[in-house]
Amino acid sequence: MAKDSTTFVCQSCGAVSRKWSGQCADCGAWNSIVEESGGANAVSFSRVESARAKTKEKILDIASLAGAMTETPRRQTGIAELDRVLGGGLVKGSAILIGGDPGIGKSTLLLQATASLTGVGQSCLYVTGEESVEQVRLRARRLGLGEAEVQLAAASAVEAIMGAIRKHKPDVVVVDSIQTMFLEVLESAPGTVSQVRAAAHELIQCAKQTGSVLLLVGHVTKEGQIAGPKVLEHMVDTVLYFEGERGHNYRILRAVKNRFGGAGEIGVFEMSDKGLQEVSNPSSLFIPGKAGGVSGSVIFAGVEGTRPVLVEIQALVVPTGMATPRRAVVGWDANRLAMLLAVLQRRARMPFMDKEVYLNVAGGLRIQEPAADLAVVAALMSALLDVPLLPNCVVFGEVGLSGEVRNVSRADVRLKEAAKLGFEQAIVPPGPDAPRKGFILHEITYITQLRQFLARNKGMPEAETTEALVKTDV
Ligand code: TYD
Ligand code: MG
Repeated sequence: MAKDSTTFVCQSCGAVSRKWSGQCADCGAWNSIVEESGGANAVSFSRVESARAKTKEKILDIASLAGAMTETPRRQTGIAELDRVLGGGLVKGSAILIGGDPGIGKSTLLLQATASLTGVGQSCLYVTGEESVEQVRLRARRLGLGEAEVQLAAASAVEAIMGAIRKHKPDVVVVDSIQTMFLEVLESAPGTVSQVRAAAHELIQCAKQTGSVLLLVGHVTKEGQIAGPKVLEHMVDTVLYFEGERGHNYRILRAVKNRFGGAGEIGVFEMSDKGLQEVSNPSSLFIPGKAGGVSGSVIFAGVEGTRPVLVEIQALVVPTGMATPRRAVVGWDANRLAMLLAVLQRRARMPFMDKEVYLNVAGGLRIQEPAADLAVVAALMSALLDVPLLPNCVVFGEVGLSGEVRNVSRADVRLKEAAKLGFEQAIVPPGPDAPRKGFILHEITYITQLRQFLARNKGMPEAETTEALVKTDV
């Protein structure tokens, strides 16, 4: 019998095969298959561990627990933006994965969080496989956290880390990063699918047994996914992504999965020389004053998770001689832009075929809501005609393929935030009530109605703008 044979594992989906091939038969990824040995060991080791853990479990029904605890006990980190994303704080025994580009601030945030937690008497263990203890200490000193009582360890052997967790039973354990961790019983290199999967599994089991909160840092691939198998995201309770554009100081922490809170919730930070600072009123960040008066600029009243965020959407439209005009998007979905351009072309007879289109969401926020459609359409129309939209006005609404404007959720929250920040009018789908007296709602049901507002600002009758629309030559 062949002893411990070599296997080939797809680094993208984790599929195992007997021989190497250029493309993974399971997920179709190219050049993702890597030779790994000791795969069989990995499975048996994990099985033994989890079987051991399982024998201790009792079977209970939900009702019997109802009286015992009314709410999930949470530990606040003291960083309000982080607590918000977590759904109110850290839940005992839970595992949290934080992904993001290199240098975005994952280590900084976790160091600040652990320092803050030790300040309120929680014991924290910070395990780093990427930096030396000295480097972490220097960083802490630079952040003004030199006195924090966080236990530091530079280690990457999972067995040793598990030993330390069992011995000290810290309230919070940070593992930075899961890709640098390895189990000695496995022969494959750290960062490979088998290592990442097995290391995460062992650490999660260990943390659950001791009741520690486990925070795992995960690297992301070029495509922005957490490197390693997708199963990693299934294994943990919460997945947070750190987003932000290079060149911007703003960092957005987004919950993409949360077993203990709402997914989609965001926390906003600003990177300064004193580390990550919380931004508790993000709207003020994404709208550079209430500029207005510039064509192609529209304020979108959005909602991220449970929180309203006003953000400026900018469009620029320029003529081109190219057969396939350029379309560039920052902070929004390029396919959705293509769809809206087609809708504008067909339903509002606006000529974009021979123009380059640039769309930018100011401040580095990435918008995913379809509610931004109407704001994008307004920005595009305004840019094409070179006419500013109404002053002090916010816009939201979904746009369908026939050019109709549809209702979106949480209209009241959006309008209330706009009113709070001093806006005086809104272009919206029919339905919502004005947030206060004197706030003007312009309800529209079809995208062509936007022209009225552009015409009003241009000071010309609507018929004329319509004509200009058709013949427009910007
Ligand atoms: P870091 O937390 O090391 O990123 P990650 O762990 O996600 O790779 O982020 C470090 C970046 O942040 C680095 O580019 C320097 C910058 N930074 C500051 O601007 N101010 C600071 O106080 C600190 C600690 C880092
Ligand atoms: Mg780091």
